[in-house]
Amino acid sequence: MTESHVVTLERHIIEAERSHPEATGAFSNILHSITLAAKIISREVNKAGLVDVLGATGDTNIQGESVQKLDLYAQDVIYNAMDHSGHLCCMVSEESEDILPIPEAFPKGEYVLVFDPLDGSSNIDVNASIGTIFAIHRKVSDGEDGTLEDCLQAGCQQLAAGYVLYGSSTMLVYTSGAGVHGFTLDPSIGEFLLSHRNIRIPDPGARLYSINEAYYPRWSVGQQRLMQHFKGLGDDSEPSFSSRYIGSLVADFHRTLLKGGIFMYPADSKNPNGKLRLLYEAAPMAMICEQAGGKASNGIGSILDLVPEGLHQRTPLYVGSAPLVELAESYLAENQAEMGA
Ligand code: AHG
Ligand code: MN
Ligand code: MN
Repeated sequence: MTESHVVTLERHIIEAERSHPEATGAFSNILHSITLAAKIISREVNKAGLVDVLGATGDTNIQGESVQKLDLYAQDVIYNAMDHSGHLCCMVSEESEDILPIPEAFPKGEYVLVFDPLDGSSNIDVNASIGTIFAIHRKVSDGEDGTLEDCLQAGCQQLAAGYVLYGSSTMLVYTSGAGVHGFTLDPSIGEFLLSHRNIRIPDPGARLYSINEAYYPRWSVGQQRLMQHFKGLGDDSEPSFSSRYIGSLVADFHRTLLKGGIFMYPADSKNPNGKLRLLYEAAPMAMICEQAGGKASNGIGSILDLVPEGLHQRTPLYVGSAPLVELAESYLAENQAEMGA
């Protein structure tokens, strides 16, 4: 890319808004604030170990998980970057049990931001890739302040979804319903520059599966049979698959988006709804994947059709190349049929 032809995220959004005359500029303002937060978090992530953001706070969050210092740092950075914009009526964070209201001092707006401030917390201290996940919904209630009704909306109602990957480079990938676009942070100028225009999940994609195989004993028979198929062990075996698992959804998803394959976090006997959260992990990734030509399922049907009953509701997640997600659904349906027999 010659320097004179850089496309910044701002330019990309402005050009996209020109094709939506009804756009009010709110979305570009919200996304601009998210990029500011991403740059600040990226700076801390890239010097973690030199500043006091490693390790746990000693607290346990609503998820029952040990809160990492960077989890809370990232939440605070995002909240403070967004709370005064005048475009949000409330926010939802993985790290906060209840809705995060907009401070009285600031005007409220027509949108809801849901986010996982720091995804892949178990990888923070070992310098493996981590991320931030976000999605934007339109307010549906009448009042000024955001309510549960505004937050508990199906993924198909998302106006936009995206993630930031703090990896070998810091990337922001987002969709607002007109394709998926990736921007790489150039720290020397502090700008996210368009590096991946209109990402499409490859078809046929790489023969890669991504799953935490330690939980095999807890999976359903259908899930176990699916894995035997991928490993070439079943009678209808699928040869030449390889396995990749980083343990950060954002990193495992990003590889799946760029190379193809399937990421799975199934239900198991200990976690009947799996581990990942519907509102701010599965649904944003589902919108991105389907906008890129892939598919996202809870093993039975589309993630995007699921209406959350709680802010932190969990869901099984199968996401990636459509043929592989459909294969997974067929194995799980077979299992259901047998169980029902
Ligand atoms: P978070 O750090 O936001 O709690 O998310 C962690 C999630 C997700 O990033 C990843 O796919 C999954 O946890 C890994 O879970 P296991 O360690 O059970 O494999
Ligand atoms: Mn997460
Ligand atoms: Mn998290």
